[in-house]
Amino acid sequence: MGRSPESNLPIYHSLGRVPRKRHVAFRKDDGSLHYEELVGNQGFTGPSSLLYHLRLPTAVKAVRPIRGLGWVAEPERVVRHRHFRTSGLTTGPSAVLDRVPLLFNSEVALSMARPRKEDPFHYRNGQGDEVVYVVEGRGVLESSFGELDYQAGDYVVVPRGVLHRWRLAEGPFRFLVIESAGPVRTPKRYRNEHGQLTEMAPFSERDVRRPSRLVVHDDPRDHAVVVKSGNRLVEMTLAHHPFDVVGWDGFYYPWAISIHDFEARVGRVHLPPPVHQVFEGDGFVVCSFVPRPYDFDPQAVPAPYSHQNVMSDEVLFYANSEFMSRRGIEFGSITLHPDGLPHGPQPGRTEESIGARETNELAVMVDTFRPLLVSRDATGIEDPGYHLSWLEA
Ligand SMILES: [Fe+2]
Repeated sequence: MGRSPESNLPIYHSLGRVPRKRHVAFRKDDGSLHYEELVGNQGFTGPSSLLYHLRLPTAVKAVRPIRGLGWVAEPERVVRHRHFRTSGLTTGPSAVLDRVPLLFNSEVALSMARPRKEDPFHYRNGQGDEVVYVVEGRGVLESSFGELDYQAGDYVVVPRGVLHRWRLAEGPFRFLVIESAGPVRTPKRYRNEHGQLTEMAPFSERDVRRPSRLVVHDDPRDHAVVVKSGNRLVEMTLAHHPFDVVGWDGFYYPWAISIHDFEARVGRVHLPPPVHQVFEGDGFVVCSFVPRPYDFDPQAVPAPYSHQNVMSDEVLFYANSEFMSRRGIEFGSITLHPDGLPHGPQPGRTEESIGARETNELAVMVDTFRPLLVSRDATGIEDPGYHLSWLEA
């Protein structure tokens, strides 16, 4: 699948001080030069930002391999409806090194982190964009681009190459991490030819939160940076603190949007899942199911009809314990409905939904165009009887 040239956000942003022109001498008070760095993807033609450092961003003193990241799938692909209870998952304390992979293919991977300790290093994912759905917790994502507050319900988009660290203010913390081989972007149909989100989109640029505080660390001590590249982790020792940026501008930076700022679409009769879409990547889409009034025709059936999505695996993460068309799920459940099999509401749910006025469901859906593998870790938290839950009681 070809890569879309449109990635990240078409909003120009700038923090701190930048020189009048690109690529001209930009001096400190003592007369020495700042160090300019371009951060972006797709070479020099994709979205990018220009950063101005106190010290050379390339001043690496040592490089040490940490480990490979070969994710292990269950030995044989099991084709049936699956249910995983992620509240039963235990993870290590790091927000980035202790992610437990759950479902993955070559284009997208879903993993879970339950951080308990702030990392003493900074992290850069060199091979994928990340969308981190904050299930629980509140804190600050610090990056070369400044500080960005996050809280439960936020999708925090961290484009590849952005050096960052998750600061933990108020827990417990639980992150659902969607890692994408291609660039993550807002759906093309929500944007006009200029890249602006149109009046028809379920969110606007005003809902997008960008880094707001630039903290300059003038610190010449060694600093550890962990980089993920080629499915491996390496640690680099930088000769100074990496967040020594006095200013930057451009289109490439981490940003956040809350699921609670997604404006639900409602119709006289049922509208299909694409109206809930919030992101697209290469080979997958992300949708937000949020509290909303139901369809308003008296005879409308708000519950969805059974559907068979050939060439699409459907993953739902239940961000609270309600979901109108499903039973037996709980807060933190993940269901996987693989392609080739029909899925839909369980017995009773369709009848129950008629005449109901509203739903309080909150869920994140990831539909992938290619089959997902289930990790060995996920099989340990599986509800083995889920595929039988459509039988009449
Ligand atoms: Fe579905």
